[in-house]
Amino acid sequence: MKLWGGRFRKETDSLVNDFNSSIQFDCRLYREDIEGSIAHARMLADCGIISREDQESIKAGLEGILADIEAENIAFTADNEDIHMNVEALLTERIGDAGKRLHTARSRNDQVAVDLRLYLRRELGEVAGQVLDLQQAILDQAKQHQSTVMPGYTHLQRAQPISFAQHLLAYGEQLKRDVTRLEDCKKRMNICPLGSGALAGTTYPIDRWETAELLGFDAPCSNSLDGVSDRDYALELLGDLSILMMHLSRFAEEVILWCSWEFKFIELDDAYSTGSSIMPQKKNPDVAELVRGKTGRVYGDLMGLLTAMKGLPLAYNKDMQEDKEPVFDAIDTVKMCLPVFTGMIATMKVLPANMRRAAGGGFINATDCADYLTRKGMPFRDAYTAVGNLVYYCTENGKLLEELSLEELQNISPLFGEDVYEALRLEACMGQRRSWGGPAVEETSRQIEELTAFIKEHRHE
Ligand code: ARG
Repeated sequence: MKLWGGRFRKETDSLVNDFNSSIQFDCRLYREDIEGSIAHARMLADCGIISREDQESIKAGLEGILADIEAENIAFTADNEDIHMNVEALLTERIGDAGKRLHTARSRNDQVAVDLRLYLRRELGEVAGQVLDLQQAILDQAKQHQSTVMPGYTHLQRAQPISFAQHLLAYGEQLKRDVTRLEDCKKRMNICPLGSGALAGTTYPIDRWETAELLGFDAPCSNSLDGVSDRDYALELLGDLSILMMHLSRFAEEVILWCSWEFKFIELDDAYSTGSSIMPQKKNPDVAELVRGKTGRVYGDLMGLLTAMKGLPLAYNKDMQEDKEPVFDAIDTVKMCLPVFTGMIATMKVLPANMRRAAGGGFINATDCADYLTRKGMPFRDAYTAVGNLVYYCTENGKLLEELSLEELQNISPLFGEDVYEALRLEACMGQRRSWGGPAVEETSRQIEELTAFIKEHRHE
């Protein structure tokens, strides 16, 4: 008979039994479920609601079940619907009446909410740690390429000279926000719903602050209806993971471009590439492509849960059982993507000569040429037009700006002097962009220091 079978006179249809049960996926909450129950029993005893003996036997019983689950000696059953009732049934089987006292002043509605918060709180910390590992790989590569000139792009058109270090460090910044977003999410997640009961609290003299504290939460939630209805923390985490994946996906897209023959800015390590079954020459960036592809999947998880939640009246509704698979899937996906992406970045070979060659075409020193004239006294807008004319002249004559003779330059403006050639040298163009955040070595050094400090500061989280 079901734990809740008292008011029923018929067995559950077997189709309904399977349809209704969530044990296939919520079994992964077993640790949190047991941890929450141990804290709940302790509080019940401290408040004189159950006896100390019962509490001790509940604790010992649950610890035994935990050990058996970890040793894979337990077969959960769909007849007991979910992890909460599976554990409770096992406990009662093992310790008798004391087991039946555990659910005093509690409901599965607050139980599942506390389990999921505990679980996500831990997973979120692991994801943040993996992001820091990726930042470290970025940092290690960036340190070696502060003087590696590459074209910076807008509209995927060559725009201005930057260093490869600066390009990588831009991703370092995005990932910093991902880490702090996760930490921020944890603050709001770290509120305890246990003691909300089914929805309306309880008549027993429970101490919600005690269970909150025992489980490492900052406080109990303020409103019992909200406590069992809220899934914001899961949505917020999915949102954070979606943004994180969006960053990985943009990075992945660049890696894919960079290792194409058209760019050849990098070569991926053999251990992080794959081949083709028909084309013997192929070396494909499958890792980057899969990360880009799996981004859509994580967005789907977010959209799925947002949609499941949008029409739900307060308080608990069974629809909310649909929260687990998307969050588990998103976490599994992100945790799978991050280490492999980090390995790919850490082992990629950078090809500075090809970056330099690409930087040499496309007139990416045109802004610097205009800045040169501006320094000589010409208003910037006029300098901009003059250099535009020069670029036109160059494309007509198949030349680069630095290949024009002084005479050709002076035909456009008498302000040009010999020193223009140094001003057009890409290394100088890049090296002089010393404005805060720019590509000059002084500035990438500062960014490298900041990222190093960031990783150190957030490691413990
Ligand atoms: N398996 C359920 C879930 O994941 C637990 C809560 C069920 N509560 C209930 N009253 N049916 O949401």
